[in-house]
Amino acid sequence: MAALEFHDRMLSLGLARVAEQAALASANWVGRGDEKAADQAAVNAMREQLNLLDIAGVVVIGEGERDEAPMLYIGEEVGTGNGPGVDIALDPLEGTTLTAKDMPNALTVIAMGPRGSMLHAPDVYMDKIAIGPGYPEGLVTLDMPPATRVSALATERGCAPSDITVCVLERPRHEDVIAEVRSTGASIRLITDGDVAGVMHCAEPEKTGIDMYMGTGGAPEGVLAAAALKCMGGQFEGRLLFRNDDERRRADKAGVTDLDRTYRRDELVTQDVIFAATGVTGGTLLPGIRREPGWLETTTLLMRSKTGSVRTMSYRTPAV
Ligand code: FBP
Repeated sequence: MAALEFHDRMLSLGLARVAEQAALASANWVGRGDEKAADQAAVNAMREQLNLLDIAGVVVIGEGERDEAPMLYIGEEVGTGNGPGVDIALDPLEGTTLTAKDMPNALTVIAMGPRGSMLHAPDVYMDKIAIGPGYPEGLVTLDMPPATRVSALATERGCAPSDITVCVLERPRHEDVIAEVRSTGASIRLITDGDVAGVMHCAEPEKTGIDMYMGTGGAPEGVLAAAALKCMGGQFEGRLLFRNDDERRRADKAGVTDLDRTYRRDELVTQDVIFAATGVTGGTLLPGIRREPGWLETTTLLMRSKTGSVRTMSYRTPAV
């Protein structure tokens, strides 16, 4: 039988439901201080919904390797099997700590593309840089020092470095980057977690006030961020970072041969992709889950790279 085609238009609404249900499942855990329970609720719901879709899916970015993640592990087959072969990148709860502490920008995130279209990123760190759409390709790169990136972006925009805002994860490992960026006069928006959202903020600087993202975070989150920017527009570069042999082994297992390679957005996600994210806690891009007596309401961003379409969908359901 000929391979079934990846009809992203048909599958996208199903993907939005997957993200919605994962968010609803974690709703009861917002602000309750239990990261694990919040994550587990989202994982269970996402897996259950994914298995209802008519796809022959394989999780390429998931909850971890098979021996450490019982569900949605890398390589797990999902869907009914009656449909096109697809790669799936997911993070049922991006920002478990944000959820547990009821801090902004926790999301449920999922991306889907044809089989073989996404980098099988090992669970290691990735050095990342991102800017929004409308700039010449390669305007800022990982090879440039942070201050050069700021001045290149400011010059292209015809503004002063002090008009630029850079988003960075607040971690001791970023102290030098933060100091160098601040030395240019640019300002920094520090986030405590959630760099998929951090990167996505670059695509809509008028709304979010963020012009550039830089720093190291999870490699799986890098692939998800690249999928989002492929839909929203914008540039992304990522380079895997290895701290020890175990991490190099993970890369080897994932099929990564060139450990020093810099991946651009379209090398991380090589074909058309659909991307859905539902707000768990409120943020600049998406409102979080709203509760009213007897009701829950979610907002989901559903995007397709093929058309550049962006849907914002709200969903209201009786609270059970
Ligand atoms: P979790 O949702 O798994 O808690 O991850 C959140 C996150 O902040 C990611 O967005 C980011 O890529 C990564 O953790 C950063 O890792 P670390 O906390 O080790 O700096």
